[in-house]
Amino acid sequence: MSADVYSHGHHRSVVASHARRGVEDSAAYLLPHLRDGMTMLDVGCGPGSITMELAERFPHSAVTGIDASAAVIAQAQTAAAERGIPNVSFAVDDAYALDRPDASVDVVHAHQVLQHLSRPVDALREFRRVLRPDGLLAVRDVDYEALSWYPREPQLAEWLELYLRLARHNEAEPAAGRHLRSWVQAAGFRDLSVTGTTWTYADDESVARWGATWAERAVDSDFARQCPEYGLATTADLQRIADGWTRWGASSDGWFQLPHGEVLARP
Ligand SMILES: C[S@@+](CC[C@H](N)C(=O)[O-])C[C@H]1O[C@@H](n2cnc3c(N)ncnc32)[C@H](O)[C@@H]1O
Repeated sequence: MSADVYSHGHHRSVVASHARRGVEDSAAYLLPHLRDGMTMLDVGCGPGSITMELAERFPHSAVTGIDASAAVIAQAQTAAAERGIPNVSFAVDDAYALDRPDASVDVVHAHQVLQHLSRPVDALREFRRVLRPDGLLAVRDVDYEALSWYPREPQLAEWLELYLRLARHNEAEPAAGRHLRSWVQAAGFRDLSVTGTTWTYADDESVARWGATWAERAVDSDFARQCPEYGLATTADLQRIADGWTRWGASSDGWFQLPHGEVLARP
């Protein structure tokens, strides 16, 4: 398995946030290109909510989610069994060395994964190896340097600065969204279709949820553990940031926007 350090970790607050994702909010750019019966590989699937929705929408497709974390794969397997989805499977595997033959998959999808890898172009080369000649790559990542929010809570600026430093300490690129076109081309893909979409939290429920998620993650998650360990922040700094997220999450005029890059391409 790769030696990369995943900045978010799999604390329940992180996984619960990921498990809310679905194909409409995270893979809309890919949907028009999918056909029932295509084999699909969801790399870095996390708790598998997007993977499971793909399988439900395309019941004749064999859909596989893989992730480096055995714990999150076990959660995905339990959820799939509870939902009774026969055409989805999950396995522990490595984005850099997939347990798949050459030219064996119709679609490789990776959502919010390349931003966490120290060698995204190597991973993309591996995705290209397993894709059939007429297969399709679909990758989507946030650009953390382009986040915006309101009210201008100073502790959110402190949080972002810290997040960028932590990700780069872990040799990952948090502004991945704007790098995707370059990385996909460097890995040898062709016929790129490059787009950008955003997640916007600007209603009371989503502002409260996003504020509460990060108030918890700031003091109790791999982020909270790694920042002091690397000398990037003290526990007092993290508590101040958590308090800022709590204040922001209570604002009745809150706004938070995360721009994403997304690329479709042929091997
Ligand atoms: C931000 S989560 C995204 C999860 C899911 N794709 C989603 O959007 O909800 C990134 C996931 O990539 C996984 N990951 C990181 N490095 C990996 C690697 N080398 N191989 C496979 N998975 C990896 C992490 O364990 C984590 O579950």
